[in-house]
Amino acid sequence: MFAIVGGSGLTKLAALQAPRRQVVRTPYGEPSAAPLVGTFAGREVVFLPRHGDGHALAPHEINYRANIDALRRLGVTEVFAVAAVGGIRADLRPEALVIPHQILDYTHGRVASFSTPGDVVHVDFTHPYTQSLRARLLDAARAVGETVADGGVYACTQGPRLETAAEVDRFERDGADVVGMTGMPEAVLAREAGLAYAAIAVVVNSAAGRGESAEKIEFARLGAVLDRGVGRAVRVLERAVQP
Ligand code: HPA
Repeated sequence: MFAIVGGSGLTKLAALQAPRRQVVRTPYGEPSAAPLVGTFAGREVVFLPRHGDGHALAPHEINYRANIDALRRLGVTEVFAVAAVGGIRADLRPEALVIPHQILDYTHGRVASFSTPGDVVHVDFTHPYTQSLRARLLDAARAVGETVADGGVYACTQGPRLETAAEVDRFERDGADVVGMTGMPEAVLAREAGLAYAAIAVVVNSAAGRGESAEKIEFARLGAVLDRGVGRAVRVLERAVQP
């Protein structure tokens, strides 16, 4: 079964029909919200808003382990993550959609493994996103006529503050194309849990020091761009969940 993990701008999945709230207990505590199981584009899917029902949780406050474990307990095998990002690469302007293929992790202090002392698992993470799920998203985008960037390096920062211009320069030198705050440890926990995982990144602003963000990023004013970008991402997902 597919899950959709919604980020900023996707706290509610309006297209989810007959949603049923599933309270799931995990050994890691509470997920961000009770997952909803319902029908999306004719298929049963699970929806989980990463930041909670009212977007109450900051990126560093999210219980990523509880979220992934709750999905696994509901029988989810494949996860599509939707995430707002800043664009670093010049062509990744606001409203662009990106299907990233790599990750750089700049977060700190987040619990990033299900491993326990004495039972440490060194999971392979060479290709952090599952290629077959990426292909599904790319094929779906083509089928519904949405332009998406095939590949991109997602830099994950700690947040919740936005970056300095110098930090973005460094991420670019490191090879990053977009920057967000929630891709890790979500992706690696999915890998550890044996769940296939891919993401649609919605560019909502140029990253700090770039383009219209040369002087300042006014995050609260990005709502319309976010809504349009997320709307397009949902259109792609409606196709991507088809058999
Ligand atoms: N930086 C980090 N996370 C983000 C940004 C950004 O510029 N835009 C949306 N999420």
